[in-house]
Amino acid sequence: MDQNQLKQQVAQAAIKFVPDDCIVGVGTGSTVNFFIDELAKIKGRIKGAVSSSEASTKRLKEIGIPVLDLNSVGPDEVPVYVDGADEVNHQLHMIKGGGAALTREKIVAAVAQQFICIADSSKYVAMMGKFPLPVEVIPMARSHVARELVKLGGHPEWRMGVTTDNGNIILDVHGLQIAEPVKLEQQINQIVGVVTNGLFAARRADVLLLGTPEGVKEYR
Ligand code: A5P
Repeated sequence: MDQNQLKQQVAQAAIKFVPDDCIVGVGTGSTVNFFIDELAKIKGRIKGAVSSSEASTKRLKEIGIPVLDLNSVGPDEVPVYVDGADEVNHQLHMIKGGGAALTREKIVAAVAQQFICIADSSKYVAMMGKFPLPVEVIPMARSHVARELVKLGGHPEWRMGVTTDNGNIILDVHGLQIAEPVKLEQQINQIVGVVTNGLFAARRADVLLLGTPEGVKEYR
């Protein structure tokens, strides 16, 4: 089974978490693209979606799913948010932002009642940090934030040529061994000029659907 088949398998498994008549929170990335394909098949039984990126919004609209403004949606109206991850540990903390959509992903995840993470088994790790941690930064603060990240033990690299949907830049922080994800998420968010960072630890996933050659494994 190749990686795309594993992604498709978890995308299909996530559909059972989507209740009738709901507004579904939709993440970003190649795994989520498979989930959007699955949503197309059940679009008659949902009200619509809230989206975490321009890319996902475009795909959702193409298949005829209404995309709502998050500000028009109440806190009880989004029962699930479904998204991928770049790394996920055994406590269901995640690194996200490989696709530069981390800030909007964190906002939609904060509104949703349940976070369903869909990932293939290559993403499941005991210690996060091998995947460079994305940090979204206000452009004028780039050098300042980079120096502060070095003080935290990381090696930040400017992701050249990438501007986020919010008009900001991304620093990818290499060389971190993230033993305390909740603490590090807070520390990085306190640096002036940081919009947010790709650690999803304070708000971790509630359910992980992991695609393996032996089938989908479910962790809580
Ligand atoms: C987007 O910014 C990311 O957070 C994605 O959710 C993450 O990179 C996973 O993407 P893939 O499903 O493409 O691996």
